[in-house]
Amino acid sequence: MSNCKLVNDKVEKLIASLTPELQELTDRGAKIISDGGLVAFPTETVYGLGANALSESAVAEIYKTKGRPSDNPLILHVSSIDMAEKLVKWNEKAEKLAEAFWPGALSLVLPARDIVPSKTRGGLATAAVRMPNNAIALALIKKSSLPIAAPSANISGRPSPTEASIVTSEIGDKIPLVIDGGQTIFGVESTVIDITTERVVLLRAGGVSKEEIEATLGEKVFAPQTESEVRRSPGTRYRHYAPLVPLFLVEQDEEIAESKKWFWIGTKEARFSLTKPLAEKICLDYNEYARELFKTLREAEKVGAEIIYAEKPTEVGIGLALQDRLVRAASKR
Ligand code: TXA
Ligand code: MG
Repeated sequence: MSNCKLVNDKVEKLIASLTPELQELTDRGAKIISDGGLVAFPTETVYGLGANALSESAVAEIYKTKGRPSDNPLILHVSSIDMAEKLVKWNEKAEKLAEAFWPGALSLVLPARDIVPSKTRGGLATAAVRMPNNAIALALIKKSSLPIAAPSANISGRPSPTEASIVTSEIGDKIPLVIDGGQTIFGVESTVIDITTERVVLLRAGGVSKEEIEATLGEKVFAPQTESEVRRSPGTRYRHYAPLVPLFLVEQDEEIAESKKWFWIGTKEARFSLTKPLAEKICLDYNEYARELFKTLREAEKVGAEIIYAEKPTEVGIGLALQDRLVRAASKR
């Protein structure tokens, strides 16, 4: 278990790095969580809306606050591998992946233990666990000594928040505490994989790439194919990340004549003609594209864009997660 110790040391160090002000805020947050309340906090992916994962009533508040369908399960955030093993039936693949990627943007779906309330797992026999790579998130878990169930801190169907101010304006009046940890690093949510069966299934592309997981396990990771595999991924049943402005995917060098007020996001300068863009985002790479995506969708709404064009990313690395979010957000032509 020497690697377990490495992970634990990393967690300790991260928590110790918090400023006195954030130590105090996470003390307060941990108390709220222990008392059954909700706290919004940053992770390295997006902001989460957290509550005690082991309390049915606390978890019910999450669903209510977000307006989330009750059959869409929550991820349980942990601060140690020991904590994860108390929640799910751990296996060899989990051990390998946790050693390689935790703390990090990878959620592992495993058979749930009875201690996890049915509400937390949306009625499923499995549960998703992840150790976030963010000092504030880890401090909340560690200080409350509780696994924290946390979906993204947005109203269901809206883009995930990547800054505290977005959480505050969307649901701030409904919860006692939003902890500001600045802009999140990845901007897209964690990768969710099902490792309950022989075949490893990618349920949601995210911060950790499919290629990295395949290299670590030494085996292929599959998209859900059989009916039972598709059923294991409740999150994909719902329309996500819907911007209020229609969004269309375009090729990097596509020329479009558009008379509407358009908004562009991508890695290269938009080559649209006729009208000037309302705002222009010229990103350097996919990491930045991912980091800015959800915020840009909201920005386009705010400035009154009539149409958003987004460059279609290739499926390499974080590009796969980016493409997944964009396709879900896109309007059909
Ligand atoms: O990066 C993230 O994962 C963020 C931060 C806050 O950690 N959380 C997040 O949670 O994105 P949420 O609730 O927005 O998305 C959780 C996804 C959903 O697609 C859900 O269906 C899936 O994980 N999920 C959770 N438990 C599952 C399970 N037992 N089986 C299959 N899918 C599961
Ligand atoms: Mg979400």
